[in-house]
Amino acid sequence: MTTDYLVIGSGVAGLTFAVKIAEKFPERTVVIVTKSFEDESNTKYAQGGVAIVSNKEDSFKKHIKDTLIAGDGLCDKEVVEMVVKEGPDRLKELLLWGANFDVNDSGKFDLGKEGGHSEYRIIHHKDITGFEIERALLTKVHQLDNVTILPHHFAIDLVTNHHIEENETNTLRCYGAYVLDQNSGSIFTIKANNTLLASGGIGCVYGHTTNPVIATGDGIAMAYRAKARIKDMEFVQFHPTALYEAKGESSFLISEAVRGFGAYLRNKEGYRFMPDYDERAELASRDIVSQSIDNELKKSGEAHVYLDCTHLDMDAFIDHFPNIYQKCLEHHIDIKTDWIPVVPASHYVCGGIKVNKKGKTTIDNLYACGECSRTGLHGANRLASNSLLEALVYAHNIYKNLAKKDNNPLDVNIPDWNDEGTSIPKEHILIQHNLKQLQALMRDYVGIVRSNKRLKRAIKHLDLIYEEVEDLYKESKITTSLCELRNMINVAHLIIRQSLDRTENKGGYYNVDNL
Ligand code: FAD
Ligand code: SIN
Repeated sequence: MTTDYLVIGSGVAGLTFAVKIAEKFPERTVVIVTKSFEDESNTKYAQGGVAIVSNKEDSFKKHIKDTLIAGDGLCDKEVVEMVVKEGPDRLKELLLWGANFDVNDSGKFDLGKEGGHSEYRIIHHKDITGFEIERALLTKVHQLDNVTILPHHFAIDLVTNHHIEENETNTLRCYGAYVLDQNSGSIFTIKANNTLLASGGIGCVYGHTTNPVIATGDGIAMAYRAKARIKDMEFVQFHPTALYEAKGESSFLISEAVRGFGAYLRNKEGYRFMPDYDERAELASRDIVSQSIDNELKKSGEAHVYLDCTHLDMDAFIDHFPNIYQKCLEHHIDIKTDWIPVVPASHYVCGGIKVNKKGKTTIDNLYACGECSRTGLHGANRLASNSLLEALVYAHNIYKNLAKKDNNPLDVNIPDWNDEGTSIPKEHILIQHNLKQLQALMRDYVGIVRSNKRLKRAIKHLDLIYEEVEDLYKESKITTSLCELRNMINVAHLIIRQSLDRTENKGGYYNVDNL
């Protein structure tokens, strides 16, 4: 298959870019590959909303300051200013494309508040903002004849110079990707003039996560194998309030906007502990709240703390958070009377594939956008609800840049995927077992609080898993679960190695040996 633009991923980042470039050039083609159903993504589950300055009480200056404070000195200030200032224009576009956001009785946006924000500035659609944005973008994409969306297609690896025999250039360049059709099992090449990685986050590397099962860091791992620069992977963000479930694993999020609405965090004794840690109490930035909860749990030996909403205006609460209210009821928790058991869970990766302000990676013709990218916006800790905003702004920048660039077809012959001598893996138990081991070691040794000893132990264990899985990969026909495991191992390696390189604690990174 040949296309002008190959987009890997159908969340907010990939879809926004696809809509823009396809509308601008109706004669050019866009192919979106996505490994699950077309709407399955982290985007779909975003709750709180999008941080955008939209009224006179707020200002760009305040949003910039809040972002810089949350990032703990490691944000790229120029990027922060650019992203914050572009927010209102990107919001106008979303509205034009049919996304609906809540308004109050006077017709103004009903703004929410979240940790680290000095103002009410979160534009939202109830507590299912991501679902609404994904809906609007997919509707728009389906109206465009020059966009082909291929659900259940898994991108295995990027095609770069080293795949091409007659390659004469020294510049590292991307020519598309090898893709697995998950229904037929066949692997084919998509040759593309430009490729966009919009493949999302890494939550599943930890097992206990707010992310859906697609968040296996594939794009970051593919880019790493292709020798793109990957940066800031030590800054994994743990969301303070995932619903505690005794089984562990994937966990439903209780939005930070609930704390913005006035909920309190309490320990088992009922003591409201956050004011002891930070004067902003429950609305301190996420790194501080997660570290404080972790400390409380270590002191008490308990498995979770509680979020108390019982003092809040319940009618208004249910109006704003109907999904959270309902989900808790399904777990036999009535928010009107019961405290919600919550625990931090892996939520977001602040680092990723390093890009410049135009979204370009260190490989020619390869761009990255959204959670898989590292733009410099988040520094050591992302400010809540800045992620959807970042994806919207960078999708626009990449589109603007590519619209100016020549679109000459690439004159190369890409060899077909070669799986000679491989067989269908029979030992599925090996994949499952190694996955469980990987997730356990990341939780136990590479969690909210780290130490050099634990990190070194983690890398030793990881090396063993890596070797076993690489051997399995070489002898096996490609399956999604095997590729995902391999990708998560690459991502875990990057997190641990970059953690060991960091000698100063900042934002979401806390190592007891750096004190
Ligand atoms: P995603 O939306 O995750 O999309 C990635 C896409 O890539 C998916 O379609 C996936 O299937 C596909 N893909 C991945 N690998 C492959 C592959 N190998 N081959 C083919 N396709 C592939 N942020 C905010 O700003 N505000 C919020 O309120 C908010 N709430 C959140 C709540 C939850 C529960 C979660 C999990 C996250 C939340 N976030 C929020 C973070 C935000 O939702 C994500 O960072 C953002 O949506 C990422 O968008 P994306 O397009 O980069 O990736
Ligand atoms: C939330 O609603 O708490 C998630 C917001 C975010 O991750 O930005």
